[in-house]
Amino acid sequence: MIGSVTTTRDGRKFRINRRHVRRKLDVSELTVGMYVVELDRPWEESPFLFQGFLLESEDDIYMLQDVCSWVYVDVVEEEWEPLDQQPGKRPPTRTRYVEKQDVARQLTEANRTYQATKKQVKQLMMCVQLGQGMNLQQAQAVVKDCVDRVVRNPNAILWLTRLKNQDEYTAEHSVNVCLLAIALGQQCDLAPYELENLGICGLMHDIGKMKVPDSILNKPGRLTAEEFEEMARHTSYARSLLMGRSDIYPGAVDVAWSHHERLDGKGYPRGVDGSKLSLFTRIVTVVDAYDAMTSDRCYQPGMSSLDALRILHHNSGTQFDSDLVRKFVAMIGLYPPGYLMEMSNGEVGIILSAERGFQLKPRVIMILGPDKEPQPERILNLAHAPQDDRGHPYEPAGVFRSGCFGINVSDYVQRGLRIKGFEYSLNDD
Ligand SMILES: [Fe+2]
Repeated sequence: MIGSVTTTRDGRKFRINRRHVRRKLDVSELTVGMYVVELDRPWEESPFLFQGFLLESEDDIYMLQDVCSWVYVDVVEEEWEPLDQQPGKRPPTRTRYVEKQDVARQLTEANRTYQATKKQVKQLMMCVQLGQGMNLQQAQAVVKDCVDRVVRNPNAILWLTRLKNQDEYTAEHSVNVCLLAIALGQQCDLAPYELENLGICGLMHDIGKMKVPDSILNKPGRLTAEEFEEMARHTSYARSLLMGRSDIYPGAVDVAWSHHERLDGKGYPRGVDGSKLSLFTRIVTVVDAYDAMTSDRCYQPGMSSLDALRILHHNSGTQFDSDLVRKFVAMIGLYPPGYLMEMSNGEVGIILSAERGFQLKPRVIMILGPDKEPQPERILNLAHAPQDDRGHPYEPAGVFRSGCFGINVSDYVQRGLRIKGFEYSLNDD
């Protein structure tokens, strides 16, 4: 059960205890907006493409009523416990349905939010470079949109953080840190307004880099000691840029100034230890390092997600907060959606998403055959222990970034990840 404290308009304080429960419903009880997680028959016998989906229209309900008698839906039960209440009184309970949609349907919308946020951050960066004033109000608005998207479906938006474009590194890195920070903040049960503040911290953390000369910022090689010193000053530049502004969350100044500090006090610019580092700074530090390590730079290719997670883990307790690293590793997982998976028989596909409890058995859109030639696209659900043409079970052999095997995941995002030639008759295995 997850608990968060909220204050109502009349000043009363409540702890909201939330628990996810599956509820069995007769198909006659279904309404638009419910999230169906299980049918009364195998999914492959149903006309639905994805396991787990949101009922978006009456048509979806009619289609379900045609083939099923009952289904399970995922609901969130909220218990509002007044913190000023006399003991013994039962708190009011209310039930609401989980709002989430499958990755495929949300990708296009999520991409719109991603592009809008990137545009905003590029404008802010240009203002700093030209010495003009920044309009932070618009930045706050796009961050609010990012929080909404991450809360509704973290998978869809996290997908987009994996489609990296080397030429736009600084802007995309800022957006990615914003999104990953919000997602990690959500794992820490932060309230929506706290996630918005955290998102702004992520978006603005490297704004000081716009004061660093381009020749150092984009140098295709190792920095000299003097150049590194100048680069390290981006933390102090950001502090000067943001300090004193009344239109930004004040904690963003601290995060921009402190996101290269370490728990053991060996970071920069001040070398302070963990006792001086806020939760938001610690969160941004973890996701900043992960996104930087997994990005291609002009001087080195990015590393795999798994290698980056290993490095975070190896440095937890000294550089990074151990508890946050643990939560982040669990959130990203071994098989992150948006990455490519090669099977032991040589076939290759794009990892779609995994059902809760089946993170090691994700669904994959299969694209290349064992000879690495294109094959008719189909979805493979590893949770169903599928076998290949020769009767061998499909086993993951490796995880690769977009661009490997000639597969550009962005192309699939652009067309909403719909499978060519299939409507609702896809055989899952
Ligand atoms: Fe930085």
